[in-house]
Amino acid sequence: TKLAVIIVAAGSGERLGFGMAKAKVPVGSDPMLLHTLRTALSAKIAAQICVALPAGDTDLRALCESVDTDGDLKITTVDGGTTRAESVRAALAALDADVTAVLIQDAARPLTPVEVYHRVAQTLAAGALAVIPALPVTDTVKLVEGSTSAGIAPEKVLLTPDRAVLRSVQTPQGFDLPTLRRAYDAAAGFNAEQRAAVTDDAMLVEAAGVDVYVVMGSASSLKITGPWDLLLAEALLAGPLA
Ligand code: C5P
Repeated sequence: TKLAVIIVAAGSGERLGFGMAKAKVPVGSDPMLLHTLRTALSAKIAAQICVALPAGDTDLRALCESVDTDGDLKITTVDGGTTRAESVRAALAALDADVTAVLIQDAARPLTPVEVYHRVAQTLAAGALAVIPALPVTDTVKLVEGSTSAGIAPEKVLLTPDRAVLRSVQTPQGFDLPTLRRAYDAAAGFNAEQRAAVTDDAMLVEAAGVDVYVVMGSASSLKITGPWDLLLAEALLAGPLA
């Protein structure tokens, strides 16, 4: 197998409120994307790394080009799209012709430990067509619907799934490349509502009836979404867990 890592870094970062692309936001002293590139590189599993960037962003492209990859590993960049899935699609189109498997990583998870990359890659190598890292959930999770009895509360509970069988899903998610390409092709005709409901890559593969295997994720692999996440990531970088 020849493995590629796709890093999706084309998000706007509006929720973080820094007024810049999220991938540029500093975590400690370096931009978020540089941390993600370093951790992806230090896993030493990829023959190619393809980064989807905000369209036309020359700073982030220069940052990707400046990273020392010692050896024959290639870092390529593509313009991302308006949704995460469109960014993945753009990167898939830019992979070397002989790539057979791919890991897709959120740039917004700058501190994913190499062990997580390894668990995903090893499970792919063992024959899985799709692998995701995940953690048990600690909160109780409810399924809700809009409340029709107006005036009491906006939502009401439909049901409470057994917490023991729920998982909170992270990246990198790993796939046999032909399997992922077929799943993305099948999603090409999605309407706006269906597009908005695509929140990870594995769900497209699940819809095609492919078995998706789950390996252990890591608390360090948190996704930086809001200011609290940034505080936690900086504490992890500085602290004894780093
Ligand atoms: O917005 P969210 O937190 O779900 O983003 C997850 C990842 O997807 C981030 O790394 C972000 O940069 C990426 N993304 C992208 N293109 C988009 C939207 C998000 O590459 N249009």
